[in-house]
Amino acid sequence: MRTKIIVGNWKMNNTIAESALLARDVLSELGEGFSGCEVGMAPTYPALQAVGTLLEGSTLQLVAQNCHYENDGAYTGEVSARMVKAAGCSFVIIGHSERRQYFGETNATVNLRIKKALSEGLKVIMCVGETLEEREAGVTGAVVSTQVREGLEGVDDISALVIAYEPVWAIGTGKTASSAQAEEVHDLIRTVLVKLYGEAVASEIRIQYGGSVKPSNAAELFAMPNIDGGLIGGASLSAADFAAIIKAAAEC
Ligand code: 13P
Repeated sequence: MRTKIIVGNWKMNNTIAESALLARDVLSELGEGFSGCEVGMAPTYPALQAVGTLLEGSTLQLVAQNCHYENDGAYTGEVSARMVKAAGCSFVIIGHSERRQYFGETNATVNLRIKKALSEGLKVIMCVGETLEEREAGVTGAVVSTQVREGLEGVDDISALVIAYEPVWAIGTGKTASSAQAEEVHDLIRTVLVKLYGEAVASEIRIQYGGSVKPSNAAELFAMPNIDGGLIGGASLSAADFAAIIKAAAEC
């Protein structure tokens, strides 16, 4: 039985003070001792410590939006896996489509970051997903399986891995993949994992859906057999909406 996992990816939003306010509001919406499913929040780097302090004593986890594959050195603007770990993160998101689209991330750099993050004891959310052009060209399956295979090249132990399927055309657009469209790709991802790691390991890996998840479509998506939660962008910036999505997952 896979526990559902919901993570709010705040992207480049909120100052430290705004982040703290949002985290506090989410905690109060969920109520003390919430444990219906696994939940995480991914603020910007400067806000990690403030949000982490607020999450102490709760079941909610602190998540970083990215990390570099070197420990330290001349990499202006980057933050290493050991730094986000030391800041209190238990998870890190790697390979988000915005990183791939705007910051030159490739399957190879995603792979390096995943290996480093896992070696530092971080759990990893690896993002995959096709663009609209790729979907229309009928190559969704090929693109996503290549992202999974190349992203996990040389990674022997995936027990600390979560995969997020985020179709690029559904991110921030208000267009959600239908639950059937999402399930089809989640099923394909699990089939790739079965080939790489065997049935027993693959059946334990959570696969989140991301792309315009809202309170109104969350329950239908999370009811699908291979959709094990969500990576939430825009809706995670509203405490009420984020809490409603979390509750939908907890009730599945
Ligand atoms: P939206 O929920 O805003 O579409 O963003 C999804 C996402 O990219 C989460 O990482």
